[in-house]
Amino acid sequence: MARKKIALVGAGMIGGTLAHLAAMKEMGDVVLFDIAEGMPAGKALDLSQAGPVEGFDANLKGTSDYKDIAGADVVIVTAGVPRKPGMSRDDLLGINLKVMKAVGEGIKANCPDAFVICITNPLDAMVWALREFSGLPHNKVVGMAGVLDSARFRHFLAEEFDVSMEDVTAFVLGGHGDTMVPVLEYSTVAGIPVPDLIKMGWSTQEKMDAIVQRTRSGGGEIVQLLGNGSAYYAPATSAIQMAESYLKDKKRVLPCAAHLTGQYGVDGLYVGVPIVIGANGVERVVEIELNGEAKANFQKSVDAVKELLVACKGIDSSLG
Ligand code: APR
Repeated sequence: MARKKIALVGAGMIGGTLAHLAAMKEMGDVVLFDIAEGMPAGKALDLSQAGPVEGFDANLKGTSDYKDIAGADVVIVTAGVPRKPGMSRDDLLGINLKVMKAVGEGIKANCPDAFVICITNPLDAMVWALREFSGLPHNKVVGMAGVLDSARFRHFLAEEFDVSMEDVTAFVLGGHGDTMVPVLEYSTVAGIPVPDLIKMGWSTQEKMDAIVQRTRSGGGEIVQLLGNGSAYYAPATSAIQMAESYLKDKKRVLPCAAHLTGQYGVDGLYVGVPIVIGANGVERVVEIELNGEAKANFQKSVDAVKELLVACKGIDSSLG
C-alpha cells in the first residue's frame, strides 16, 4: 500500500511542528506548502535529515506550488498571520479571509477528496470560509479548536487534582477561546464528574471557575509570554490527533468545529461540538442536552460566530 500523503498549507511554527509529528509517527509523506520562498524546502530538508536518527521513513518536500499538494489524503491549514500581543483573533479576520480564498481554491483544484483540518484563526469563521471557497463536502472540512481547548482544560484540572492527565477527560463546546463552553458535569477524573469531585472536597467551585477562565484565555496567556507569535506545540498535536482518527478510521470522539445542520438548534454554521471522526470524515455529531448556564454560554458562542460570518460576508461579497 502506498504511503498516505499529508499536505500542510502554511509551513510556519505550527506547520513545521505538524511536519515533525507526522514524520515521527510515520503517518505518510509530507508536503510543506508556504508562500514564503525557500523556507518550506529548508524545513523539509532539515526534518528529512532527522529521519536517519529517529528511524522514520517519510518523504518530506517543501514547495510554493499548489500542484505539489495534488492527491493529498489530509490537508492541515495554518496559512495566515498569527496573533501579535494585544491583537484579538478577530483582528485577523480580513487578512486571513483572503488567505482562505487562495487556499480553498488550491485545495479544490488539486485534492478535492482530502480531509481538511483548518487551524487558522479566527477559527470558527475561517473554517466556514475555507469550506465555502473549496466547495468540499461539509463532512470533509473541520476546524481544530476543541481538542486544544480541552487539552488546556485537562492540563489545568490534572494539576489541580494532582492526578495523571491521562485520567482527566474534559467536555468543551462552543467557539474557540473566549467563548468556549466547558461542561463540568461531563468533565471527569476516571469517570467521576467534576461537580462530584467538588462535593468530595477535591477542589472548590471557585477554583474550577478560575480554571475555566484561565482555559478560555489560554491562547492569550501564551501569546503574552512568547512575545512574538502564538502557541504551536499543543495546537499541532491536537490537529494530528484528528488527522490520525481519519486516516486510521479510529472513530475518536473529539470536540471540533463542525458544520451543524440543526443540531444544538444551529443551522449552517461551524461551531465546536463533539464529533466522531472516521474514514468518512465527520461521521456523527454528538448532541447532548444543554441546560442552564451551559446553554446560555453556548448561545453566546454561536452569536459570536454569527457576527464573524456577517463580517466575512461584508468583506468578500462572493460569500453572500
Ligand atoms: N498561503 C500559504 N501560506 C501562507 C499564506 C498563503 N496565502 N499567507 C501566509 N502564509 C504562511 C506564512 O508565510 C507563514 O509561514 O503561513 C505561515 C503561518 O505561520 P506562522 O506565522 O508561524 O503562524 P503559526 O504560529 O503557525 O499559526 C498559524 O494558526 O493558531 C493559528 O492564529 C494562528 O492563524 C494562525 C495560524
